Amino acid sequence: MASIEPFHVVELMERARALEQQGRNIIHMEVGEPDFGTPAPVIQAATQALQRQSLGYTSALGTAALREAISNFYQTRFRANVPPERIIVTSGASAALLIALSLLVSPEDEVLLTDPGYPCNRHFVSLLNGTPICMPLDHTTAYQPTSDHVVKYWSEKTRALLLATPSNPTGTCISPETLNLIAEAVKQRRGNLVVDEIYNVLTYDLPASTILSYRQDAFVINSFSKYWGMTGWRLGWLVVPMGYERDAEKLAQNLFISPPTLAQHAAIACFHEDTLEEMEMRRLEFQKRRDLLIDGLSSLGFGINAKPSGAFYVYANVSGMTQDSYTFSLETLEKTGVAMTPGLDFGAHAPDQHVRFAYTTHYSQIEQALERLFSHLRS
Ligand SMILES: Cc1ncc(COP(=O)(O)O)c(C=O)c1O
Repeated sequence: MASIEPFHVVELMERARALEQQGRNIIHMEVGEPDFGTPAPVIQAATQALQRQSLGYTSALGTAALREAISNFYQTRFRANVPPERIIVTSGASAALLIALSLLVSPEDEVLLTDPGYPCNRHFVSLLNGTPICMPLDHTTAYQPTSDHVVKYWSEKTRALLLATPSNPTGTCISPETLNLIAEAVKQRRGNLVVDEIYNVLTYDLPASTILSYRQDAFVINSFSKYWGMTGWRLGWLVVPMGYERDAEKLAQNLFISPPTLAQHAAIACFHEDTLEEMEMRRLEFQKRRDLLIDGLSSLGFGINAKPSGAFYVYANVSGMTQDSYTFSLETLEKTGVAMTPGLDFGAHAPDQHVRFAYTTHYSQIEQALERLFSHLRS
């Protein structure tokens, strides 16, 4: 437990909540949770399921109907042939990550992770008595690894590389060409690649993509939380390479018995045409917010050295203003009511110089946040 850290941003959120209780207006840009809410057809499907279904446990792998729907989505959206047998429905991407890493990591195995990266990953590895190796990444590779990093950091103990594209906290993507080179380098070393694609449909300057269009040997993580705005429904999925289906099933049975049943019935509606149209509108709205935020922050002196082309985050360098992003975030919250996440949660590589903004709040709120930051920084 000593190696498991808390989410540092929680402290900031608590302060934000306390300020709100005192009547202050807080603009929340610290949480990676879309503000659009659950799509109406999903709520409708859930309401019908509540009336008609028994809602007992399902298969540990998820309902046949949902696994089929996910498989169809890969086919229609990405021309990727992913049979339902390789899809395991999980309690969010979190459970998918835990199952994938449990399949791969034995005590003392090393797992290569990105720094900055999603905070829970290194804790999952520690929990399995593996060793997280956090590769320091900077703007020169858009905070993403390349096959050179695999060469540099792979050791005899390394078992896997886990990355996310688009990434949290940076919003940056890896091109299919580079990802393929990474996958080749991992394969040459008899390792496994885990790709977290939780934001893969939320891209702006590039087409959405999945590694499953061109490789079948990666473990792929995804979720209904972000693109479909269903964080609280706790539903995601894992795609395993052929040969891992049975082991994944055994783990899913033992760890979770089954993913949430009501959420599974509801999520079928995620793939209906009207829902996908609504999601496309949301994606365009995210893009507008991103453009506003990038322009605004850049003109205020925040360094945005690698353009975020996906997810809903901007990872900004604040070294021109402070050498302590944590205190900077707390002070900015106190003075302006704008809440952002300090770099500390995302790793040990230059966290003091970075903060993350999530544009999961309304366009007009982002405009207001920029105005407040402008007045504060000028003074
Ligand atoms: C990169 C990444 N992976 C996984 C998760 C966990 O998502 P879920 O809500 O599906 O468990 C998150 C949540 O923020 C994330 O950013």
